[in-house]
Amino acid sequence: MKFKVPRGTQDILPAESWKWQKVEQLIRETCEVYRYSEIRTPMFEQTELFQRAVGDTTDIVSKEMYTFKDRGDRSMTLRPEGTAPVVRSFIEHKMFGWVDQPVKLYYIQPMFRYERQQAGRYRQFVQFGTEAIGSADPAIDAEVISLALEVYKRAGLKDIKLVLNSLGDKESRIAHRDALVAHFTPHIDEFCTDCQNRLEKNPLRILDCKVDHEHPLMKTAPSLTDYLNDESRAYFEALKTLLTKSGITYELDPNLVRGLDYYNHTAFEIMSTAEGFGAITTLCGGGRYNGLSEEMGGPSAPGIGFGMSIERLLLALEAEQVPLTNDDALDVYVVTLGEAAKKEGFQVLQQLRSAGIRADMDYLDRKMKAQMKSADRLQSKWVTVIGEEEVEQQIVQLKNMKEGTQQSVTIPELIELIKG
Ligand code: HAM
Repeated sequence: MKFKVPRGTQDILPAESWKWQKVEQLIRETCEVYRYSEIRTPMFEQTELFQRAVGDTTDIVSKEMYTFKDRGDRSMTLRPEGTAPVVRSFIEHKMFGWVDQPVKLYYIQPMFRYERQQAGRYRQFVQFGTEAIGSADPAIDAEVISLALEVYKRAGLKDIKLVLNSLGDKESRIAHRDALVAHFTPHIDEFCTDCQNRLEKNPLRILDCKVDHEHPLMKTAPSLTDYLNDESRAYFEALKTLLTKSGITYELDPNLVRGLDYYNHTAFEIMSTAEGFGAITTLCGGGRYNGLSEEMGGPSAPGIGFGMSIERLLLALEAEQVPLTNDDALDVYVVTLGEAAKKEGFQVLQQLRSAGIRADMDYLDRKMKAQMKSADRLQSKWVTVIGEEEVEQQIVQLKNMKEGTQQSVTIPELIELIKG
């Protein structure tokens, strides 16, 4: 075969696609309960949007973007993440002027990152994300975290944990940054060239370097927690209290810095603790991004959100052996015998479908036995048999496959019977 699905992408075949539908439905229902509304943004944006928002020194921007020149010679990038486009849209459509604030949005959209393929890591993956923009109340942080957990809970996952950190405000981050520079500078020649670059531009990024993560200086690096100012500390305490009061347990991890530059204050991840879940255990990542709107030319609009891939959710369900149920059994299979019956059968099929009944028929002119086999395989609850005689009398033979009973009925009777 000459063509294959591109590396890091996958075809989702019918044996799997129903699971995606179930999970997406569950997500939409949960968002509705929390009053988050769907937003859909384009698959590609100006490259500069991601450079600005996510940060030049992040792995996403420096190594993983699918960037191309369009025919107008503009640099465009396939969306690697959802926050920057949503904030762009928030500003562009002046959502800061909407009556209901904060604006609470969600999306289920494909993202693209040129990453090394691995279990749970794809080059195209679908992220469910939420963004609540326009409030700096720790209660909205708690709401967003709770929504993410609720989705996993409704899906049936049990082996998950919430990991929490505070990255502090600007002032705290500057103090921490200075401490990091002082810590790494004397030994920076022992680090990769990326880290050497990061030291000047963004020393925090050294902490999530995939090359140097074993270097002893990583473990002794100054922790952000020690540099939080009073305001940041109070914000974090308020969030922790809200979570605890809602019965949400968490682990604190001062090393959780997240791989995108726009974060401050709250940072969190939800991990799978299921045995047999692959090496990548992060199911969901999110945090607060006060200042991102201003950075992108908008008004002050503090925000918080998260992203979780559907792929990893499904992998976690598999690892925990949570069964998803699929009721895709057919209601009626229309068996026809002969040319005239086939024409009539097709009309019957159309009427059944118009009445909302799941129905199908044979399109390969197969013998009755083969048609009955198909009905069986499709777990059809009913079978109608139409032969010449039935065409003449304008009836069908209706078989109840479970009970093995049979009766002659007219088409209106057929629909009524099946609809129950
Ligand atoms: P992120 O940590 O880059 O954050 O990605 C969030 C989630 O997307 C990950 O936890 C994982 O579930 C999924 N993910 C990321 N990369 C891959 C991949 N290559 N294959 C499969 N799944 C992947 C963000 O993207 C932020 N925009 C999240 C956010 C929204 N923060 C605030 N609002």
